[in-house]
Amino acid sequence: EPYDLIITNGVCVTASDVAALDVAIKDEKVVLLAPSGSLGSAKSKRTIDAEGGYVMPGGIDCHVHLQEPSMFGKGSSADSYESGTRSAIAGGNTTIVAFAPQQKNLDSVLQALETTHQLAKDNCYCDYGFHLLVSNPCAKALSEFKQLASHEGVTSLKIYMTYTALQLRDDEILSVLLTARQNRILTMIHAENGDVLNWLTDQLEAAKLFAPKYHSNSRPPVLESEATNRAIALSSLIANTPILLVHVSDPEAALRIRQAQTAGQPIFAETCPQYLFLTRDDLDKPGFEGAKCVCSPPPRNKEDQLAIWRGLKNGTFTVLSSDHCPFRFDDAETGKKTCITDEHPVGKFRYIPNGLPGIETRLPLALSANKMALTKFVEVTSTNVAKLYGLYPQKGSIIPGVSDADLVVFYPEGRLGKTTLTNSMLHHDCDYTPYEGRTVDNWPRYTILRGNVIWDRDNGGIVGAKGYGKFVKRGKSSLAGIWETVEEEGTFDLEAL
Ligand code: URP
Ligand code: ZN
Ligand code: ZN
Ligand code: ZN
Repeated sequence: EPYDLIITNGVCVTASDVAALDVAIKDEKVVLLAPSGSLGSAKSKRTIDAEGGYVMPGGIDCHVHLQEPSMFGKGSSADSYESGTRSAIAGGNTTIVAFAPQQKNLDSVLQALETTHQLAKDNCYCDYGFHLLVSNPCAKALSEFKQLASHEGVTSLKIYMTYTALQLRDDEILSVLLTARQNRILTMIHAENGDVLNWLTDQLEAAKLFAPKYHSNSRPPVLESEATNRAIALSSLIANTPILLVHVSDPEAALRIRQAQTAGQPIFAETCPQYLFLTRDDLDKPGFEGAKCVCSPPPRNKEDQLAIWRGLKNGTFTVLSSDHCPFRFDDAETGKKTCITDEHPVGKFRYIPNGLPGIETRLPLALSANKMALTKFVEVTSTNVAKLYGLYPQKGSIIPGVSDADLVVFYPEGRLGKTTLTNSMLHHDCDYTPYEGRTVDNWPRYTILRGNVIWDRDNGGIVGAKGYGKFVKRGKSSLAGIWETVEEEGTFDLEAL
């Protein structure tokens, strides 16, 4: 047979175009795009009728936490590489990039990477890569950055300005930025002022304010905008080293980012569905329910959501990621709330593990909101992600002869009607979704990875195999201009300060 798979009668959407086209696939690659209907009778091992649905590059989710050790005492990640990637493909994703966490007591990042490789190996339903999560930037760890980027295919890392177990001091951040710059590694920064939020947490507890909603009071917006501003300042000190601010929730922080971008600094930003669909009120629910929406930074208010949507549309945000970081609400063994223990019998926000499940709902929620052009949706959920993290054009596009045949096909408009989201329809191992009861009108009909259907909603659901997902070595970020400033500014020069 000349082709392995043909998709007919679809509307192809890329970051730049919307056009009715048939897609032909051979040997895991897209090999031909042809006028709609023209491939209907071509010879192929399999033909899928998209019935007028959207055919898009598969979703790429580059902010995913799986099987990381908890920083919150009790409560470990609800999702393994197996269940997390299973949930990913049901939500239209074909590639994820998850974190390989280095513990503070470990001096090697390569060792942290190896450990994480073992967790993921043969367990993934979709393709995957890793970012290093650097919590101990000692001389040895920094000396390994070269191998990370050039040999291991790990061209990005994340650092934290908060969480005692992970937080870096400003001088440590500078060392990371300098070494990352030398090796063309993109540094992702969690920008919240950890010292201030620890102090506020103590103050709230002293005033006996323990409920989940006070998580939000412990992390007011100014903690985020201050840390964002500081991160931008530190980047500028190291001769404008590219950074990406992750999970931005605060419009003031977004404004500072926009200003830096306008000034030509290589500052990039990410936001997440929780800052588009949840608010602070979701933390204020009867009983302990509010714990289901505890993440950091916390969801803000309605006006802030609108500002974050604007930032997505105007390009302030390069990517929309899930920040999937699932913890069970009720402990699987004890059946008790994960963060209520003998040691801490009163549920306190301090002990609620931060993070939400969202790998499966990211694309359906964002598409159903109908607030972005289709091309923009593909750009921020797939194409830009691939460019930013060195996966393009193998991933994130449908260029014949070049791109992997990684696709998501959405049902035709209106076919699904209003579907109510419930946790029972999701494929993660978490026992809740923060979006329970919301309606969406788009859901992936098929997810296709390297030419093979791995999700078929109407015919078997998860039809891919565990272990079919491969580790992808990533190249340097190719987002337009990202290393341009670095080239222009030359090396970091103490005489020039
Ligand atoms: O609350 C969050 N975001 N948890 C996940 C860990 C992180 O900081 O990304
Ligand atoms: Zn190696
Ligand atoms: Zn973070
Ligand atoms: Zn995260």
